[in-house]
Amino acid sequence: MSTPNPSPRHFLDIDQFDIATLRAILDKATELKKAGRGHEKPLVDHTLVLIFEKSSTRTRISFEVGMRQLGGEVVVLGSQDSQMGRGESVADTARVLSRFADAIMIRTDSHQKLEWLAEFASVPVINGLTDDSHPCQIMADIMTFEEHRGPIDGKTIAWVGDGNNVAASWLHAAVKFNFKFKIATPLSLQLPDHQIDWAISEGCDITVTDVAEDAVAGADCVVTDTWVSMGDDDERDKRLQILVPYQANDALMAKANSDALFMHCLPAHRGEEVTDTVIDGNQSVVWDEAENRLHAQKGILAYCLEVI
Ligand code: CP
Ligand code: NVA
Repeated sequence: MSTPNPSPRHFLDIDQFDIATLRAILDKATELKKAGRGHEKPLVDHTLVLIFEKSSTRTRISFEVGMRQLGGEVVVLGSQDSQMGRGESVADTARVLSRFADAIMIRTDSHQKLEWLAEFASVPVINGLTDDSHPCQIMADIMTFEEHRGPIDGKTIAWVGDGNNVAASWLHAAVKFNFKFKIATPLSLQLPDHQIDWAISEGCDITVTDVAEDAVAGADCVVTDTWVSMGDDDERDKRLQILVPYQANDALMAKANSDALFMHCLPAHRGEEVTDTVIDGNQSVVWDEAENRLHAQKGILAYCLEVI
């Protein structure tokens, strides 16, 4: 493995980056996507450890396949597999994994755990989703939007549903990529005030409402996500009731711009946050969005491992 880096390039949240770095990551993702199979393999002899303390299909497979396509290796740890699940500290885990691997991706509940891992690791740490954010997803989402509609700068993105981790990373992206963000959630499920205040203080053109139709009016893209995120199961019944007015259905899509895209990070719960007609309809780009996780992960790995 490579020599420990005193200042590893972590990928923790979109709000921590300048636009030039975010653009460099997306440009690399696009370049690798265009090059297709057999592209350069700059990560030969590099190992990525993937830690999953929550379930995953897309994040796991896209990081695993992406790392291999770049020439590297992966080791996957589930929450039952590691000593962290039996109480070994995050700091000690970070120190040990840094002696074996060249980068660590973690999907976990507590954002604080991610930050501790990054503080004590001497290799890059990547946020594969926490209760607070999901930045790798939104990098793929920006890439997808721009493939279909050109630069996102100045466009209007509407979020309807739960003010969750994915919504928070969209808000971060709105500030950095300079698009308008209109978010409709029930009052009890809004993004935290401090995040909204931060976006406003950064000059973001943001609309916060509890009326889904108001958010989608004039939108170039309508985005939603599950109403019951991992860890929210004890509130399931309440959420399924109060979120009904935020369903992405044909009537709601008809209030957005006629060429508005529909996006969803998946997994979808058809009949809850989205209808079959919308997710399977001609405005939906959800399969491109899922594919672009692979290409975006490769851009992020190239950045973290300093081959861009
Ligand atoms: N969108 C996403 O992160 O999917 P997984 O939970 O399957 O990784
Ligand atoms: N908000 C969802 C995203 C899943 C990819 C969750 O945290 O469960």
